[in-house]
Amino acid sequence: MLALAQFAVAVAIDPLVSLGALLAGAALAFLTVPLASRSSRRGTQLTRRNEALHALVSDFLAGLRLVKSHNAEGRHLGDFTAAARATRQSELASRATLAAARAVMDLGAACTLAALAYAAIIFSGLALPELLVLVLVFARLIPSLSRLQQFAQQLAQQLPAYAHATGMIRRLRRGAEPIPKESRFPLRLRDALNVSGLSFAYPSSPETPVLTDVNLCVPTGRFVAVMGPSGVGKSTFADLLFGLLEPCRGEIAIDGAPLTPANARRWRDSAAYVPQEPYLFHESIRANMLRANPKASGAELERALSLADARRFVDALPRGLDTVVGDRGARLSSGERQRIAIAQALLRNPALLLLDEPTANLDAASERRIVATLASLCPRVTVVTMTHRPEPAKHADNIVLLRSGRVAATGRWSELEAALEGPLDAKGDQE
Ligand SMILES: Nc1ncnc2c1ncn2[C@@H]1O[C@H](COP(=O)(O)OP(=O)(O)O)[C@@H](O)[C@H]1O
Ligand SMILES: [Mg+2]
Repeated sequence: MLALAQFAVAVAIDPLVSLGALLAGAALAFLTVPLASRSSRRGTQLTRRNEALHALVSDFLAGLRLVKSHNAEGRHLGDFTAAARATRQSELASRATLAAARAVMDLGAACTLAALAYAAIIFSGLALPELLVLVLVFARLIPSLSRLQQFAQQLAQQLPAYAHATGMIRRLRRGAEPIPKESRFPLRLRDALNVSGLSFAYPSSPETPVLTDVNLCVPTGRFVAVMGPSGVGKSTFADLLFGLLEPCRGEIAIDGAPLTPANARRWRDSAAYVPQEPYLFHESIRANMLRANPKASGAELERALSLADARRFVDALPRGLDTVVGDRGARLSSGERQRIAIAQALLRNPALLLLDEPTANLDAASERRIVATLASLCPRVTVVTMTHRPEPAKHADNIVLLRSGRVAATGRWSELEAALEGPLDAKGDQE
């Protein structure tokens, strides 16, 4: 606005010289266009390199134990140094482009001002006072234009990062589950959970389905074990049953109503999921447990811990329930984390309790106690557990045996014992 007002004063004094100034300004702006597009390219490069640097750091921190056990700190340090150097080079190159654009503009402006003053004296025969005002106006105008140009240049450099961030927000919004507007009431399981003709492939490898034509009926109050070798798709099936993934074909129905992204949140209100690798936040055991059910009383916490065979080890901790578990629960053993995760799930008073390898990290005695708890929850709770171990399967009302992503057999332990005994993993691998 200021620049426009100043230009209007200049036009009032001498339209011809002002037009000359306008043309010179346009020519200068044109000169800096290649620099603006270079800034934009540098900005894109800088965004990519920053992203790579962040990925490297978080990956390294997550795998620190492995890196040390491989004695591979040197390699990671080398990778980090190379990435940091690349980022620094990008940053310096961006700054250099900005500085070059500024130099072009400043030099060009000085030359233009001198040329205009000369032209005004020689050709337009302006009186000295008008000439002085004109030069003054242009001397004020030039820094404004230079700032504008620098602003445009910086914008060109920073837009790629902005576009990258907004693009990511758009992708996340598109992928987000709809949050229902109407009041949410849990989708209770009263009759049966039915899986019919379910097939699933991950979007990253659509041509290799993980699960194919899976059919399963889980009547309420039953204890069902889904078994199969490692990599057969048990965790994927658990994610599907919990509405974290959507089937590619077929459906999962709760009392006849298909599970869809629209009602998945309601379904999760009445179900609980113990994932294969439980995650605890860096806070006390109590705070972690209250995340599962913020309204739970102290007595309910104690009861859930007892049922999950975690009461004894929690009581033995120096601060009991108020012991802080460390980053990702690092101060607890994996078996202890798993039992806390089971206690969390029980606190939610679920209609369906879904567990993924709940006893994989436990000793035999603890496993027996947990399986006894799971069995005792039925028929009040429907329990579906993914497992590759015999102990949970022995107590299940029904076992579903997966092989090569398909249901190979169903039945009780006594009926399937022959098929289940022996090298479960080896059979899966051969297939
Ligand atoms: N996020 C993912 N993207 C692509 N493929 C995956 C993903 N998660 C698992 N898989 C693949 O799906 C198959 C089944 O994995 P998973 O369900 O974890 O098996 P299980 O729990 O039975 O060991 C494996 O072959 C695995 O490579
Ligand atoms: Mg698994």
